[in-house]
Amino acid sequence: MRFFVDTADIAAIRELHELGMVDGVTTNPSLILKSGRDIAEVTREICDLVPGPVSAEVIASDAEGMIREGKHLAEIAPNVTVKVPLTWDGLKACKALTDDGHMVNVTLCFSPAQAILAAKAGATFISPFIGRLDDIGLDGMELIADIRQIYDNYGYETNLLAASIRSVNHVIECARVGADVITAPPSVIKAMASHVLTDKGLDLFNADWAKTGQKIGA
Ligand code: G3P
Repeated sequence: MRFFVDTADIAAIRELHELGMVDGVTTNPSLILKSGRDIAEVTREICDLVPGPVSAEVIASDAEGMIREGKHLAEIAPNVTVKVPLTWDGLKACKALTDDGHMVNVTLCFSPAQAILAAKAGATFISPFIGRLDDIGLDGMELIADIRQIYDNYGYETNLLAASIRSVNHVIECARVGADVITAPPSVIKAMASHVLTDKGLDLFNADWAKTGQKIGA
């Protein structure tokens, strides 16, 4: 399973990248706002750091505008993935941009029907949002499992990129059902290292070690 990091925070991306944990990056307008950076500038910086796909999102709502903005974003670096919303115009833009040789991430996917259309339009990635479905009392993970099954039934090549991940459990469940990629905030990726029994075990080892009076390498 590939790990994308869902942030435009360069320091956070660098820390995870140095550990080999970043296969790509996803951003969106809210994350650009949070970074306080210019979209072209920060996207270029991320692309210089991470060789994998880096998603940058268009803002236009019509296909023509999305294609224009998408081509503009794609000029920033060869690993830019143009992110378009799952609307009818977004699907038109997806088809045009993929036909033009660009990687496209179709975002804001909330149903299997939408995911089928994105695959038909040639999307490189489909981004179903788990957390936002959970937020309204639905089961985001069921959507991931449904898309996995449908894509496998027909051999669709679009990568299933599970987004809106809010917890370690979301990551584990995505791995269980076979998402190709997860995109998660740095905090969730770092939380994967934690376990209460690891902390407890370490406390015990440290206490026992202190009683030995020994030092390593002294
Ligand atoms: O990048 C899109 C997605 O991951 C957003 O997540 O937590 O804002 O629903 P969230």
